[in-house]
Amino acid sequence: MNHLLSIQDLPLKTVQDFFKQAEFYRDHEAAASLSGKTVGLLFFENSTRTRSSFETATRKLGGSPLSLNIATSSVQKGESPVDTAKNIVALGASAIVMRHSASGSVGDAARAAGVPVINGGDGTREHPSQALLDAFTLQSHWGSLQDKRVLIVGDIAHSRVAHSNLALLPRLGAKVTVCGPPTLLPQKAFLGPVESTSDLDAVLPRADAIMTLRLQMERFEGTGHIPSAAEYRQFWGLTRDRLKLLPQQSLILDPGPTQLGVALDPEAAQDPRALILQQVHSGVWIRMAILNWALGVKGMKSS
Ligand code: CP
Repeated sequence: MNHLLSIQDLPLKTVQDFFKQAEFYRDHEAAASLSGKTVGLLFFENSTRTRSSFETATRKLGGSPLSLNIATSSVQKGESPVDTAKNIVALGASAIVMRHSASGSVGDAARAAGVPVINGGDGTREHPSQALLDAFTLQSHWGSLQDKRVLIVGDIAHSRVAHSNLALLPRLGAKVTVCGPPTLLPQKAFLGPVESTSDLDAVLPRADAIMTLRLQMERFEGTGHIPSAAEYRQFWGLTRDRLKLLPQQSLILDPGPTQLGVALDPEAAQDPRALILQQVHSGVWIRMAILNWALGVKGMKSS
């Protein structure tokens, strides 16, 4: 069964097939490949982009999204995520897209649901569709990620976006560096080929792209990770002044939600080098490709 739980499970050929299909959807009208199919959207954690993007992708492919409002659902009476997923399948869902704050819970649902389950973000672990759309956005601009220097800045330790990107971008040939407060960087042993630093001003002038990440305060256990948001901005924010250190042809990404005034200044989000809304736009095409793959749609045209 084609679950998408971790980017690490995807062969590179499948990743490139997703990119080709996303390019096709960028340039052509989609066929109704999911006609008659229902996709269950179970977001136990808040979302703007991922949920709306999978919903839009399902509709563009002629399918029907079944989006559960968790706040008014029987989850509030104690029903478990796994039972919720099984009931949405019993209501006719052919696939589930799920987000949950507990790392591993999407995998639990995948083992029980009996249909393909797509990870829409599980705890601090992975957010594979975000990494795919990030890489697709970069590849669309550069043609290839080979030897491109990608700098990921922020709360790497708690970021499922960072974890999926760290597993994907080096496989596509990118040279990745993570940067942030020492308390929010992973142990070097987990980083493999990825460089690690806390000195943003030293690495920014060499970056072909910078991806800013928000501080995930909701995942901080107690205090002590950073002295204050103001101090974070001073050392690790992509501030208006720091924009001058970023080469003119470099790109600015942020998966959102953007933490304006902390992770990046409004001037950085509005800079001509910023692709933040392009990431959101590309996400729909990538998620169309993911849904086709998960549901075993054969013979999809790709450019
Ligand atoms: N990038 C991302 O996952 O955004 P949402 O939390 O709005 O889905």
